[in-house]
Amino acid sequence: MTPADRQPRPPLRIAVLASGRGSNLLAILDAIAAGILDATVAGVFSDKSRAPVLERARSAGLDAHALVPREFPNRLEFDAAMFDAIEQTAPDLVVCAGYMRLISEPQVTRMAGRMVNIHPSLLPAFKGLHTHQQALDAGVAHHGASVHFVTPELDGGPVIAQARVPVMPGDDAEVLSARVLEREHPLLVAVLRAFAAGRIALEDGRVTFDGMAIHAPLQLGLDNALTPAPHPAA
Ligand code: GAR
Repeated sequence: MTPADRQPRPPLRIAVLASGRGSNLLAILDAIAAGILDATVAGVFSDKSRAPVLERARSAGLDAHALVPREFPNRLEFDAAMFDAIEQTAPDLVVCAGYMRLISEPQVTRMAGRMVNIHPSLLPAFKGLHTHQQALDAGVAHHGASVHFVTPELDGGPVIAQARVPVMPGDDAEVLSARVLEREHPLLVAVLRAFAAGRIALEDGRVTFDGMAIHAPLQLGLDNALTPAPHPAA
């Protein structure tokens, strides 16, 4: 550890991008309020002017902004305006928490290594939509959620960490989705805690944890801490 590593770090500045109900935003805010996460939410951004997440953000006293795609000539210009607005909040990290639009390549490149997404599956399995139904249809024994760096490929960037849940007999998509969501929240908080502590980075396209490239996603334990996956050779 160098002396610079021992300096107290400023709170992680987070911008949240979301299209829907905002339970992941609330999990972040609860963790900050509980003193578990040393961060501040610098702004909340949505592509849906009526998304419940905006109201939840405003109730918490946060700046919340909606930019509506149909008011822009095309996707590139919409995304540029969205990320210009996000940059104004000077975030260390952009968190896509239920943001249901593909982000175009120039903005992804602009945010390289500074933007993560939470996705409700054990990536690379079940990209895209209806992941819980996809998991049930595939008959898998385990399902879960992943937090990954955002790259231009849909749900395809390097995976940082995952939380696993069992699929139970009789599950339907709704029941399974609720079981996953319960673990999504601590997963996202654990990953953000690791960012806040400077433990996670993207280097040469690979995730590093404490300065070492990981060979598999970190795993969320029952204690809600992240642990490296066992090495395949071990
Ligand atoms: C979460 O389950 C998140 O994983 C999912 O949307 C939900 C948002 O919930 N994201 C995706 O499907 C992205 N591909 P929330 O609005 O309550 O946080």
